[in-house]
Amino acid sequence: MKNIVAVYPGSFDPPTNGHIDIIKRASKIFSKVIVAVTHNCNKKHMFSLEDRVSMMKEAVKSIKNVEVSSFSGLLVDYLDKIDSFCIVRGLRALSDFEYEFQMALMNRKLKQDVETIFLVPDQEYTFLSSSTVREIASLGGNFKNFVPKSVYKEMIKRGKENV
Ligand code: COA
Repeated sequence: MKNIVAVYPGSFDPPTNGHIDIIKRASKIFSKVIVAVTHNCNKKHMFSLEDRVSMMKEAVKSIKNVEVSSFSGLLVDYLDKIDSFCIVRGLRALSDFEYEFQMALMNRKLKQDVETIFLVPDQEYTFLSSSTVREIASLGGNFKNFVPKSVYKEMIKRGKENV
């Protein structure tokens, strides 16, 4: 899909290998992918917005057509601001579908021409979520294989600083 700028929104608290898998797939389809980090008002975040942006930047720096940004407010307003109509979302399992379907339709109600494209991550990542990673990390478990190396290093460093 040439010349289409797609937005991959999320809270990414923290970014996981599952997110990176979706970003890599999207980068092969779209001319540019903007990873848009935001505050999810339904969640209590572990990392600040600035920290999540900087962890994501580090994790995707080798992918040429990917940019990382942040926004507050409605996703559709952000799409307008950057002149995009295309949202990328990952579908890990059937259980994601209802929520994603509702969000896609609501975003379309809010902005008529918006399209949501769903990508399926490698099955290795279907069980993965940011909160699982946070929980394993805070309980001292090994989460090395679930997040990008740079994110792992940052989380270990912070864990030690908080001791
Ligand atoms: N690999 C690993 N984990 C994944 C994943 C993947 N491919 N895809 C999703 N997840 C995880 C996320 O890490 C997240 O984990 P957590 O709940 O444990 O933190 C969980 O699945 C749910 O992800 P998601 O639905 O993407 O939540 P989110 O907070 O990351 O993103 C927003 C939701 C930010 C996109 C949405 O709230 C939004 O658009 N907000 C802006 C305000 C707005 O416009 N609201 C109206 C929307 S209709």
